[in-house]
Amino acid sequence: MTLPDLTSHGYQIERELGCNHLGGRVTYLAQNQTTQQAVVIKQFQFARLDSNWDAYREFEQEIHTLQRLSHAGIPRYLDTFETSDGLCLVQEFIQAQSLSSDSTWTPQKIKNVALRALAILVYLQKQSPVVIHRDIKPENILLDAQGKVYLVDFGFARMGGGEVAASSVVKGTMGFMPPEQLFNRELTTASDLYGLGVTLICLLTGIKSGEIGNLIDADYRLHFRHLVPPQEIGWLNWLEKMVEANPKDRYRNAKEAILALKPLNVTRLPKLRLSHAGIEFSDCKYGKILTQNLMISNPIPETMLAGRWEVVPHISDSPHTPYRHSWIHFQPHKFEGNEVECEVRVDTRFLSADRTYIRKILLHHNAAREPQELTLQVTTQKLPDFLIRSSQGSRLLKYTIASFLHFTIFLILSLGLIIAPILFGCAIFFWILAGPLLIGALRIDDFIGTKWIGSVLNLNWLKYSRKKSYRIES
Ligand SMILES: Nc1ncnc2c1ncn2[C@@H]1O[C@H](COP(=O)(O)OP(=O)(O)O)[C@@H](O)[C@H]1O
Ligand SMILES: [Mg+2]
Repeated sequence: MTLPDLTSHGYQIERELGCNHLGGRVTYLAQNQTTQQAVVIKQFQFARLDSNWDAYREFEQEIHTLQRLSHAGIPRYLDTFETSDGLCLVQEFIQAQSLSSDSTWTPQKIKNVALRALAILVYLQKQSPVVIHRDIKPENILLDAQGKVYLVDFGFARMGGGEVAASSVVKGTMGFMPPEQLFNRELTTASDLYGLGVTLICLLTGIKSGEIGNLIDADYRLHFRHLVPPQEIGWLNWLEKMVEANPKDRYRNAKEAILALKPLNVTRLPKLRLSHAGIEFSDCKYGKILTQNLMISNPIPETMLAGRWEVVPHISDSPHTPYRHSWIHFQPHKFEGNEVECEVRVDTRFLSADRTYIRKILLHHNAAREPQELTLQVTTQKLPDFLIRSSQGSRLLKYTIASFLHFTIFLILSLGLIIAPILFGCAIFFWILAGPLLIGALRIDDFIGTKWIGSVLNLNWLKYSRKKSYRIES
């Protein structure tokens, strides 16, 4: 790749720092030939096939934004000039590495980056109208040897977040854009917090920028707790709040986020203390629900203990989830606090008499990587002898009654099945033929001249009323 010759403009290019194909931009490290000062030249190349007017406007926007800003954490704007193939922005070179370069990240180091980056955001949010960077990610944050943090690349920056962008093209980097930016909705001072939160999570988990999207679910929730070693819970909660999908659930602005982060001690870890080393229920009466209280505490100040219970699967138990067991229950099942009283409940109705049940219990917590292991032992009482005997006797009686009932019901049902259609058929037969038979009988009665059938059936009134009706009609 050949470097452009900008000596006619007074700059000697040394090397390429970055190349944004989609935006048609290339960033170079160069030297001002007069002052020998190292500078960064960002060139927008008109001739690049993939460059367009939108990208050009972004570039102009970056120039305008940088010109307005003056903060130790933002490279100073130095110059702009035009060449035959592009427009160039000259800015101060910062001797620092981007957060995407390899490094070991301790929670303390990440907290330092967070506080300093937030201080830059406080400055941007103090501008009128506020400046929203819109592309905060590890590649655009630099960290120098003294631990100072710099924010670069204002190509997507916007003044004010109120009005929705005119262009429907979403600008930003996938995985780092909050949902409101992703859907071109109104941006707020909480919008840049999302990108910073995701950046810090990248550092904490060691996940590269291009892969962070894999941790985001369909509801735009970022799941990362399972990937990090034990951490102070307040610190994890803080990070989680930074990347809330709904901007209303995040800190409202950078100042609020700093205030919440400053008092957190991210290096200390809580310590787990349990009032009992194991849980034992002995000589338990059958059918009772037994309870025992366990005290969980954390003696380390400025830290918070968090955890959850799990019963290790056992071959004799019905299948269960880590949150629900058929006969062992914990209340609360999940906790956060430094003095927590947990109730262990055992439902012996699921157990047999005269047995010993041993189950392994795990207490997952944030004081250590490995969960705390406990043993739960339940010994159930023997049933009294007379109960065993009578229970055997009553079982025989129950079987006899049950089989008798079974036989009787079977008999009734089968007889019912045979008799019901016969009765049903007779009923239908009767109702169909009853009318004609009756009328026929009355006719015969008339014909013979007797009122015998009519009087026996007490239906002579029918004959008279019929006659009467004839009379009226005629
Ligand atoms: N002022 C600067 N000082 C030192 N390095 C810089 C500076 N500006 C940018 N860089 C480096 O160059 C890379 C590309 O610059 P950037 O402005 O982010 O361009 P792009 O729009 O291509 O992402 C950055 O990721 C950063 O590592
Ligand atoms: Mg960049």
